Amino acid sequence: MDVFEQLLANNKVWAAKKVAEDKDFFKRLQNQQAPKFLWIGCSDSRVPANEITNTEPGEIFVHRNVANMVVHTDMNLLTVLEYAVKILKVEHVLVVGHYGCGGVKAAMTNQNFGIINPWLKHIKDVYRLHRDEIDALDSEDKQVDRLIELNVQEQVMNLAKTITIQEAWAKEQRPHLHGWVYGLKDGLINPVFDMAPGTHIDPIYEFDV
Ligand code: CO
Repeated sequence: MDVFEQLLANNKVWAAKKVAEDKDFFKRLQNQQAPKFLWIGCSDSRVPANEITNTEPGEIFVHRNVANMVVHTDMNLLTVLEYAVKILKVEHVLVVGHYGCGGVKAAMTNQNFGIINPWLKHIKDVYRLHRDEIDALDSEDKQVDRLIELNVQEQVMNLAKTITIQEAWAKEQRPHLHGWVYGLKDGLINPVFDMAPGTHIDPIYEFDV
């Protein structure tokens, strides 16, 4: 059996198991989704949203990219965010990084990654903002892991700078924004930053809503 055929075989086993446990499982999810969470995570295969939070299909709306970035020219991210906040009315948006993130590590080098360079530039910007704190740490691993935490914090603040979040905060006092970092070594999530609805940011980023 080819590796991709294994996936299809696994899928049949999984679907049968779901129905055996709960015969209406797929029927309930067929016509609607009502997730309370939007997850903006790293594409890293070791950080799957549902698995590490022990949740089921239907519970988390997911967007993933390299190093869990919130980039204001990224129409993919902005569209997912708008749909999750305005239509699905999620209550929480989670930016989930992970220690040992390869995207963040790459951004801390001077290596040329070609077409990936512009994406990593956004992470380099976070490093530049926090250079003194990061450079003061005494090992490369600690520096990378601190940048990972600070990057999550900056991406949460980038969410607060979007019109989608500012309108939802003004009109519906929702959603709460969270910055989390997942540990590959122990499977545990470290909450590092959060912003309640209505939290003020630097006034230059606040729109008239
Ligand atoms: Co990563």
